Amino acid sequence: MSGKVRKAVFPVAGMGTRFLPATKVVPKELLPVVDKPLIQYVVEEAAAAGVEEFIFVTSRGKGAIEDHFDIAYELHATLEARGKAEALTILDDILKEPGKIKSVRQMKPLGLGHAVWCARDLIGDEPFAVMSPDDLVLTKGSCIGELIEAHEQTGGNVVAVEDVPRDQTSRYGILDTPNAADRLAVVEGLVEKPKPEDAPSTLSIIGRYVLLPEVFEHLSKHERGAGNEIQLTDAMAKMIGKYPFHGLRFAGERFDCGDKLGWLQANMAYAMERDDLGDGARAIIDRYK
Ligand code: UTP
Repeated sequence: MSGKVRKAVFPVAGMGTRFLPATKVVPKELLPVVDKPLIQYVVEEAAAAGVEEFIFVTSRGKGAIEDHFDIAYELHATLEARGKAEALTILDDILKEPGKIKSVRQMKPLGLGHAVWCARDLIGDEPFAVMSPDDLVLTKGSCIGELIEAHEQTGGNVVAVEDVPRDQTSRYGILDTPNAADRLAVVEGLVEKPKPEDAPSTLSIIGRYVLLPEVFEHLSKHERGAGNEIQLTDAMAKMIGKYPFHGLRFAGERFDCGDKLGWLQANMAYAMERDDLGDGARAIIDRYK
């Protein structure tokens, strides 16, 4: 089963404990990389891929994420009065058509699978994207766009994958596949956070997925997995053999911005890509060599 992917779920209800104290009152998803919040990068990536509805799974204390995508009237009025056209364009670019951004609450942080399940009524019976704002993918195109294109060809579930060093497999969901070297790997099994010696490959899943709505049938059982959390990987694993399932080696470089060093690296990489900041960023790197 394939179909047009119109909706994307953004799980933003986690506690961001690895980034304390920064995330005590500021949601992790609003941390900036250079000058833009993480969540805005992923929403833009989705929009570039033709996604029309943006569903945030939020929690208490995360209201600023919704505010970020709303009009800030006082700021607009002040910038208008001062003739700051460039700043106004930056603000206008954030906005979506009214009604296209929706949110639901995940009342307890029971895991990524549970967060996605909370969006079930807003998704209904169609394939959809899941995008973690922790993962930024620096690429000319759109990472989720690549997955959507693959889904249109193969149907079924498609997840973004990349190679990780074998000694790090216990941090990721790992693929069991007969063709790990190919761009599109057939998924025959999924293992959440295996020890290096037990890992069936070194292809790890990153935070970009195109999923069939059937995943909700499995998530609704609320079975706990690794870390006593309701894991999205476990629900996806139950669909293997029943529907097509592929891992896609995407183009571009991925940064784990839920991790301090990953986030620092993203700041440097994104700054170096920019015409206005590239030279300055390179000079800083040279200085601290
Ligand atoms: P993480 O496990 O990386 O996020 O989940 P976290 O729990 O906020 O971070 P740490 O480990 O405590 O530092 C990846 C994404 O899934 C969301 C998070 O908000 C993050 O964007 N998430 C995670 C939920 O929405 N609900 C959950 O129950 C867990």
